[in-house]
Amino acid sequence: MNKKVLILLLLFIPLLGLQAQAQWGDVNGDGNTDIIDALLIAQYYVGLDPQGFNPEAADVDADGQVTIVDALLIARYYVGLPVPTPVLTPTPTPTSEPEPAAYQKYSGYFLVGAAVDTNSYRDAHAGLLQKHFNSIVCENEMKWDALEPSEGNFNYSTADAMVNFAQANNMKVRGHCLVWHNQIPGWVFQNASKQVLLNRMKNHITNVMNHFRGKIYCWDVVNEAVTGNKSDGSDAGEDLSQVVSWGYRNSTWYQICGEDYILEAFRAARAADPQAKLFYNDYWNYLDGKRAMIISIIRKLQAENLIDGVGLQCHLNISPALESPNNQTVYQTVPNLEEEILEYASLGLEVEITELDISVYTRDYPSSDSSKWYRSETELLAAGIPDKQAARYKEFFDMFREHGNLITNVTFWGIADDNTWLSEFDSGRPDYPLLFDKSLQPKPAYYSVVDF
Ligand code: XIL
Repeated sequence: MNKKVLILLLLFIPLLGLQAQAQWGDVNGDGNTDIIDALLIAQYYVGLDPQGFNPEAADVDADGQVTIVDALLIARYYVGLPVPTPVLTPTPTPTSEPEPAAYQKYSGYFLVGAAVDTNSYRDAHAGLLQKHFNSIVCENEMKWDALEPSEGNFNYSTADAMVNFAQANNMKVRGHCLVWHNQIPGWVFQNASKQVLLNRMKNHITNVMNHFRGKIYCWDVVNEAVTGNKSDGSDAGEDLSQVVSWGYRNSTWYQICGEDYILEAFRAARAADPQAKLFYNDYWNYLDGKRAMIISIIRKLQAENLIDGVGLQCHLNISPALESPNNQTVYQTVPNLEEEILEYASLGLEVEITELDISVYTRDYPSSDSSKWYRSETELLAAGIPDKQAARYKEFFDMFREHGNLITNVTFWGIADDNTWLSEFDSGRPDYPLLFDKSLQPKPAYYSVVDF
């Protein structure tokens, strides 16, 4: 279409705000496929953001993109000209179906959880939480700096409110996390001999677990204690190409206490609340060397019956980047995750997926390279990412269900794409890793998880 004609048309048509329902061509959800729909597609195509616009219904030629061709096809249809299939075969899209509650679909398998922050359990996200989840974890509010910001001064009010919400809604609560190298106030390590530090740690664990006793069914007692070493012994961090061996993370905990802090943490936790399930939680379990190191720690804990389960964080990417310069995601496949689950389960441990999200980016380029960012959901859709992400979620959940007898909880690290740590974390790069979009609407990923 001539650009001038298009712009003229756009000037005369207001942005319509009708509720979207997915039906081929009916992009404004008013029950008809007509010229208004064609014009809305044109507005969308030139970069406007028409309200109530349903991109799924707009892709009338089903080529995975919304383009001016889709608008033209509707226009032809509207004036009675023939249009090729599949345009005139209305295909019901998932959004017209009632949305099943995710946790109910999974009731025979495992709990379905979400990480919650100090706002999300009481703002617009609460409805999604109540409908789809039967487990929560505080994203930050039970970390050391939140609960004991200065020695002996415990501050439970925020976390309590979140636990109360969970109880009022029959949700379980995971406790995250008692001992970690991050989000820990400086006083903990100040002038600390090994004994002083272990006492501070035991005091923290005992106080916190006593406080929540009976309300938290499991605790991540120690988080992320294993890392890869470079040849000079220093931490390789994210750069796997530098890793020559796997060992204890050289955190201040380790520097002051050696490996003993891990055993002591679990001892204190077991004593504080014998009913609570105790977990070791970490990421990148799909790396054989890292997993072997974790298992060596687990065996020591098992010798004293101090551990019940292992938490697999599972911050995944849209695809395993086979050509990644440092091979970071080459192992991030379904069979690999399955292998981890089976191996941990064979040790007699419960397995929980504790921090699931699927970034729309691969790991093989620097996140600061803003030329590759998806700046809006519109851009994301144009690149076909929502369907790709849905397919990846589906593969993982198909496998999770197969091992529903081994997995006790699958928790997403967030609720909807408007509030995800991945967007805060990586140089401002927007990410879209969850089942619900920025408007809190179910994404293809959601349907791929609940349709079985
Ligand atoms: C993250 C939170 O989501 C952020 O809000 C916070 O700024 C940093 O921590 N592994 C973990 C989680 O075990 O505690 C982290 O949570 C994400 C990575």
